[in-house]
Amino acid sequence: MTAPWWRSAVFYQVYPRSFAPSRPAPTGDLAGIEAHLDHLSWLGVDAVWLSPFYPSPQADFGYDVSDYCDVDPAYGDLAAFDKLLGACHERDLRLLVDLVPNHSSDRHPWFVAARSSRDDPKRDWYIWRDGTPDEPPNNWMAAFSPVPAWTWDDATGQWYLHQFLPQQPDLNWDNPEVVEAMHDVMRFWLDRGVDGFRIDVIHGIGKEPGLPDDPPDMARLPHATLNDTARTHELIRGMRALVDSYPGDRLMLGEVYLLSTERVATYYGEGDELHLSFNFPPLYTRWRADRWRAQIADTHRLIDGRGAWATWVLSNHDNVRHRSRYGSENRARAALFLLLGLRGSPVLYAGEELGLEDAVVPPDRVVDPGGRDGCRAPVPWSAAADHGWGVTDPWLPWPPEPERRNVEDLSADTSSILHLYRRLLAARRASPALRLGDFEMLDAGPDVVAWRRTGGAGSGHRIVAVNMGPSPAALELAGTVLVASDGAGEGSPFPGTLGPDRAVLIEPV
Ligand code: GLC
Repeated sequence: MTAPWWRSAVFYQVYPRSFAPSRPAPTGDLAGIEAHLDHLSWLGVDAVWLSPFYPSPQADFGYDVSDYCDVDPAYGDLAAFDKLLGACHERDLRLLVDLVPNHSSDRHPWFVAARSSRDDPKRDWYIWRDGTPDEPPNNWMAAFSPVPAWTWDDATGQWYLHQFLPQQPDLNWDNPEVVEAMHDVMRFWLDRGVDGFRIDVIHGIGKEPGLPDDPPDMARLPHATLNDTARTHELIRGMRALVDSYPGDRLMLGEVYLLSTERVATYYGEGDELHLSFNFPPLYTRWRADRWRAQIADTHRLIDGRGAWATWVLSNHDNVRHRSRYGSENRARAALFLLLGLRGSPVLYAGEELGLEDAVVPPDRVVDPGGRDGCRAPVPWSAAADHGWGVTDPWLPWPPEPERRNVEDLSADTSSILHLYRRLLAARRASPALRLGDFEMLDAGPDVVAWRRTGGAGSGHRIVAVNMGPSPAALELAGTVLVASDGAGEGSPFPGTLGPDRAVLIEPV
């Protein structure tokens, strides 16, 4: 049986606001993404995940949706979406849209109606509780700031639940009408031809009956990092059955923001829940070989161990970019060998191929209530003052060194990190062992993470070694260097030493 496309795919996340505008503008749009698809084909990724582009008051920059079945005029319209989807498919790129099922915007007509009166037919589409204005119904905390996950609605005299901002009321998935409405949203995009969904905080949609308090020692954490209940699994199985009823291996890639790989693994179900899930503990792991070996071992034991398929991600629109976290371009280059070399599907974040760091955002330019502006800085396309945007002052400041770290300049320099991304993506594409093969950890000393990939339809083996230590490491590995993080010695026999913060892909003899 051939593996479904998403097992060997490399995903690339586009944050529409920050990717590229099609006309001079401070924010990007769908036509701008379409105009730059050749960059993605040249790079060699397989699938694009688009963060939300739906109509939204932008309280959470699109994750507060006020219409699930349209495009915000700032980004274009449905015709522009269809054109983008067609242009992706012409290039053999798959396209995932972001489904935000846990909450809508407070301006969504559903919530506007629900809030209008206790008797409104939509009232029960959200989660309301009685009480008094001075005491929330339980101790759950919202994400982003230390405030309760409840807001008192004065007009109707009840609290409503929001695991995120007050402008993002949680939908009530215990109401079958909500389930049906969200299934309709999924059908809307599947019928248009999307290849699947990245599903926002999917683990949040079911709630423990009775909404019990979080344990007192955890109660300062956002409830969204703790919400983990059997009901959600049932709801995911319903979504999965719907997605599987469509032809073409449509995909559900869920965001399970629970910081335990053991818990994340349960959201794959028995092959009847998520096809793929994000697993964030590795993203929060420092640049230390012992820590990484432990994360990799956990992932293999808990995810591969149940016959499921892992994902690997180091940067996204919610976290400081790994180039900034790890502190050097050498480390960012070496980290790519983890992403593309480990067993699972990698998810790259636009701009990491340029080695972008987070932008420095002065206090008067801060716009995100969650403090995530730095990683959302606009992608620089050229060295010119407008970096290809037609304006010099986009919605967020440029990331550091845009006059050097831009697509035009780095494409002209074959020693750049951008070319390293391209070479390693090509080496992965050419190797069934790297894409689909088995995994075996190698013992390569305390500071080195090294592993072998074998099989994947009879191809040659591959070995990957990443030196996270401060000094050169002697490694007894014999073979040809296919790709080196610093470009040194590619095509030659491995010299037996790997420099600090360096990585290699080797074809063993
Ligand atoms: C997810 C998104 C994040 C958003 C939150 C609420 O974690 O990735 O950007 O703020 O959900 O929708």
